[in-house]
Amino acid sequence: MKYKIPKSLLMGAATAATQIEGGDYNNNWYQWSQMGMIDNNESSIVACDHWNRVEEDIELMKSLSLETYRMSIEWSRIEPKNGEWSEEGIKHYIDEIDMLISAGIKPLVTLHHFSSPIWIQDIDAWANKKTVDYFVRFVEKVVTFLGERVNEYCTINEPNVFVNDTYMDGKYPGGEKGNIIKYFKASKNMIKAHVLCYDLIHKLRKDLGFDDTLVGVVPHLAYFDLNTKRPFFKLTKKFINQSFHGIFLKGMIEGRLTFPFMGRVAKKGIYSDFIGVNYYTRSMISPGKDIGMLFGDVHYKKNLPEDKKTDLEWEIYPEGLSSVIEELYNKYKLPIYITENGIANADDSKRISFIRSHLIEVIKLIESGVDVRRYYYWSLLDNLEWNDGYGPRFGLIHVDYNTLERTIQESGHYFKNLIESREIEIDEE
Ligand code: GAL
Repeated sequence: MKYKIPKSLLMGAATAATQIEGGDYNNNWYQWSQMGMIDNNESSIVACDHWNRVEEDIELMKSLSLETYRMSIEWSRIEPKNGEWSEEGIKHYIDEIDMLISAGIKPLVTLHHFSSPIWIQDIDAWANKKTVDYFVRFVEKVVTFLGERVNEYCTINEPNVFVNDTYMDGKYPGGEKGNIIKYFKASKNMIKAHVLCYDLIHKLRKDLGFDDTLVGVVPHLAYFDLNTKRPFFKLTKKFINQSFHGIFLKGMIEGRLTFPFMGRVAKKGIYSDFIGVNYYTRSMISPGKDIGMLFGDVHYKKNLPEDKKTDLEWEIYPEGLSSVIEELYNKYKLPIYITENGIANADDSKRISFIRSHLIEVIKLIESGVDVRRYYYWSLLDNLEWNDGYGPRFGLIHVDYNTLERTIQESGHYFKNLIESREIEIDEE
């Protein structure tokens, strides 16, 4: 059986600056690694050395026939100290984006992907409302210097994971365990920052004469399923969905603050031109003891057969991707960009079937009328998986961390072939 990948679905891969670039001493993840907070005492300082290998990596993207590339700009490379702009950093990103455009690869730029400059960390980062103004100033700078080169921006990557991993689990820089006050302060600040940047980016580009600007939100979308039939837990699931998704979707898309906040952050309107979907797996909710989770315990499905799980023990659950997208699309009717979808799989044995099964879900959605316009595989290269270090390997391209040599995986060749043939073939059962 054959599935057609429509031309309207642009295919690409995604990365984030801190995870691949290396060489930056001014961001808070470097500081965090110096504090021994990354598994095996690993550090972001070399990563994939992408900063020095941009040309080589764009050649690799070309050889994979990528149509688009989602990348992020490292704030500390542009503004290493408060109010001091780095001409070197600015030039680097302009050159990188020019190279992408010349290679026929459309850039999608993320303005905040988990990391901040150390000077921002020093003022308590997103828990401090001053960070909103500083971020807006940084965004103004970036959008102005990128000018006509980039018309599509993601503001803040996965604010829901960011606040959870920083202020609940304490795994990210400045992290604290169970600091609910900071959790909510940072959430509100990120929502405000998104809405302000939405208007700002549109205005800046309009003043430059462009009316093709698209600015989107990029939440992490978990597919929650109940592991119990007890009726009370339906409420638990609703509550968890609201805390993890609702607050951010309503806040960032509608400018509306919902429980436990009150009021609005902006006048009535829609503050997103597309919805970025970062989807990886299904999460189960079992009865638990945590009152903060309304007695729910969120965990990955246990005792999964080998072929149903990734190296990080995440369940491979493609149906979840279509469920979360359908729900969002029915509610907002906004174009969908799948901004991240991928698998940690060091030996590459499951990546082809992972990509195939998730893309088939996407094709079925498109055929049923859902406006899905992008698919970005996470990730182009193996990279620093935040506090999990270099163990998990998500790349279409393998990176040897001793020699920094890149090797396209079999799945990378498969992905290239999909993009070129625009067809997925599966054996009839
Ligand atoms: C996302 C994150 C990425 C990447 C990915 C794989 O939450 O945005 O940076 O690490 O997960 O786990």
